[in-house]
Amino acid sequence: HTVDVDPSSYDAGEHDSFMHKEMVEQPAAAERVLRGRLDERFGTAHLGGLGMDARETRAIRRVKILGCGSAYYVGQMGAALVEELARIPADAEAASEFRYRDPIIEPDTLYVAVSQSGETLDTLLAVQEVRRKGGRVIGLVNVVGSAIARECDGGIYLHAGPEVAVASTKALTNMFLGFALLALQLGRVRDLSIADGKRLIAGLQRIPEQLEAVLAREDEIAGVAARLAEAESLFFIGRVRGFPVAREGAQKFKEISYRHAEAYQTSELKHGPLALISEAVPTVAVVPYDELTDRNVGALHEIAARRGPLVVVTHADVDLGDVDAVRIDVPRNERELDPILLTLPLQLLAYHAALLLGHDIDKPRNLAKSVTVE
Ligand code: G6P
Repeated sequence: HTVDVDPSSYDAGEHDSFMHKEMVEQPAAAERVLRGRLDERFGTAHLGGLGMDARETRAIRRVKILGCGSAYYVGQMGAALVEELARIPADAEAASEFRYRDPIIEPDTLYVAVSQSGETLDTLLAVQEVRRKGGRVIGLVNVVGSAIARECDGGIYLHAGPEVAVASTKALTNMFLGFALLALQLGRVRDLSIADGKRLIAGLQRIPEQLEAVLAREDEIAGVAARLAEAESLFFIGRVRGFPVAREGAQKFKEISYRHAEAYQTSELKHGPLALISEAVPTVAVVPYDELTDRNVGALHEIAARRGPLVVVTHADVDLGDVDAVRIDVPRNERELDPILLTLPLQLLAYHAALLLGHDIDKPRNLAKSVTVE
């Protein structure tokens, strides 16, 4: 099915920018990507466009995700979903690098191209490389009928509606949800139980209202952004599920606020850049309530001991002890689905920092919405 949106009637309306409009549209966009695709009775997803039957689906031994920029980072979130739910080894790679290393294409690997525009040349050429060597590629694409959508063997349209701001927000959220649907369907033809399938479906159904709840805290998050906007350099840290969230958060901050923002695995800080932490270098830490919470809080102590200002994007259940930090609590979902709710405050932080700094939110310097050249 397709979504009827007339792009010519699309303007920012009461919003100061398309990015703001598109962030606020996320709950509605999330509903659209899920609509008609959840099977509550069997605890699975129905993705009609994949073009694979159950036998072909069971034969998949690996999943390789290809995208650029934010699509690459959300691809890493998607790889984690596929591994957790379907127990198929999965990873994401920058599509811009892929074709240059003469990649080995295997018939039992499912390749997934992720792109909002469907026109990013690097991603398109990666798809062509896979297909030329006989591999199967599906697309997670927003723009219907775009070059990448046409080139793929099948796919999942994202139904986010038109996205104008260079910094991707609602398309990125729908990419994550698209991966959740894919992982659920792959999982349910393998070992994922019907109970787990139903648990995840209930979680997916809560996402739109939970996104709304984060958006409702925009003023508070804007206040936090005001502190970060002053810094010349920042760290964004997270681990396992939280690391791609940190990468995407740093990317957004760099893209529109022009501040140096470096994403790091929380666990690797002590093996490298801990010496750079100081009063002048804030850290935005992604700390979900999960099996790694205690270890994450331990790392926050290390940062606080070096007087590094801390902003912690976390859940109300997380006890930060006596760590001196500004916290932004987001609603909890199922652990596997938490990353997308942890990502939204990072979009709002980047947006409000850029707004305070007086930058062009929708058209950051030197960047294009879709890069169709090499
Ligand atoms: C450009 C934009 C990024 C975007 C990337 C992928 O580099 O600046 O914001 O994430 O392209 O775009 P796509 O349309 O393929 O998702």
